[in-house]
Amino acid sequence: MTNLAILGKKRVQGDIRVPGDKSISHRSAILGSIARGTTTVKGFLKGDDTLGTLIAFRKMGVEWRWEGESLIIRGHGLKGLSESEDVIDLGNSGTGIRLLTGLVSGFDQFTVLTGDESLRSRPMGRVVEPLRRMGARIDGRSGGKLAPLSIHGGNLKGLKYEMPVASAQLKSALLLAGLWAEGATELREPGPARDHTEIMLEGFGARVEREEGGWMRIRGGAGDDLVGREITVPGDISSAAFFLTAAIITPGSEITIRRVGVNPRRTGALDILREMGADIKLSERGSSANEPYADITARHSRLKGITIEGDRVVRAIDEFPVLAVAAAYAEGRTVVRDAQELRVKESDRIAAMAFELDRMGASVEDLPNGMIINGGKPLKGTVVDSHGDHRVAMSLAIAALGAEAETVIHDTECIATSFPGFEKLLEEATAG
Ligand code: S3P
Repeated sequence: MTNLAILGKKRVQGDIRVPGDKSISHRSAILGSIARGTTTVKGFLKGDDTLGTLIAFRKMGVEWRWEGESLIIRGHGLKGLSESEDVIDLGNSGTGIRLLTGLVSGFDQFTVLTGDESLRSRPMGRVVEPLRRMGARIDGRSGGKLAPLSIHGGNLKGLKYEMPVASAQLKSALLLAGLWAEGATELREPGPARDHTEIMLEGFGARVEREEGGWMRIRGGAGDDLVGREITVPGDISSAAFFLTAAIITPGSEITIRRVGVNPRRTGALDILREMGADIKLSERGSSANEPYADITARHSRLKGITIEGDRVVRAIDEFPVLAVAAAYAEGRTVVRDAQELRVKESDRIAAMAFELDRMGASVEDLPNGMIINGGKPLKGTVVDSHGDHRVAMSLAIAALGAEAETVIHDTECIATSFPGFEKLLEEATAG
């Protein structure tokens, strides 16, 4: 087991880059593998989750290689995929397993998908149930609610479906299944889940019609339109959020993070931190492959507690562990509601953050659909645990920077799922 020790009362400074966006990297691997021709990906995240997706495609016969830092994928269309000889293990990755369940449902082969202990406890029924309605034969533990999942796909029919949760993984699984279905697949989402799949499908040549009122539509057979392309992946705003929060809560800090993806469906945490009083500025804006990016600068700021609910929760869903840390350093009460999805992430992030921040001296109440953080109590270093969750591990490291004395975080290998090099970057940024 790897532990991470962090000395408190540090500040962060510098001009840094964070690794490539996890969601865009997964989708580059998937769409590059099923398009015809060569896809070149610059800035692909070399994290365990995204490498797991690439390895899954190698098992299904797709050739890819590294040329320097560029990933080169040679796709042959969906028909270029072959049946994997063995079970495909997607490790800790919810995006990997859910998007691949949708994709392999579209072809007439047998596939078994599984993952680690955390992934095998996460809800799969949300994707399995509509995919069965489209015609896929899927089995799994608990009647298909839990992985391992076995999928026999092919001959799908389009579906008109109002999604019960605002989940980009569910939406993407159904769009990928709809690519080779008979007839159109129409989906309505109850909130603004990230739209990288829609944006990237269009970039690869498959049209996704988007209408007012949240309906979107993909034509069956649109998969045949996918053609390989070049993609430059921006920095992951979910990774940047740790360093931005570190700068905001520790006196004397200022940090700039270059070329971070700022898709409006991903920037909820910037809006939330600003409303709390954080000094955050965007500059050098640009756009690549229809995804906006910018340099983001954050400085130490006095924060106040606020209420966070509704669509903003969806737009910041992965940032709540570190937002809980910001709230612990704010004056007053922060209330988070409508965030029950946090219970079914890599860990139960409400329970994990409430328990661990409490050990450091913060006051956090666990609500069924969120939490209340009574901020402003000084935190002190102690021994805490990651719960095997990368974002909990990194959030506790940021909490530790502002605390008194040393914090030791147990079980931090999981950081490599999304942010290889986090520890070294944090050491460099706190060296001054
Ligand atoms: C992701 C979607 C989100 C997010 C996850 C990445 C994606 O999950 O939490 O880290 O890449 O589609 P849900 O779809 O479960 O909300």
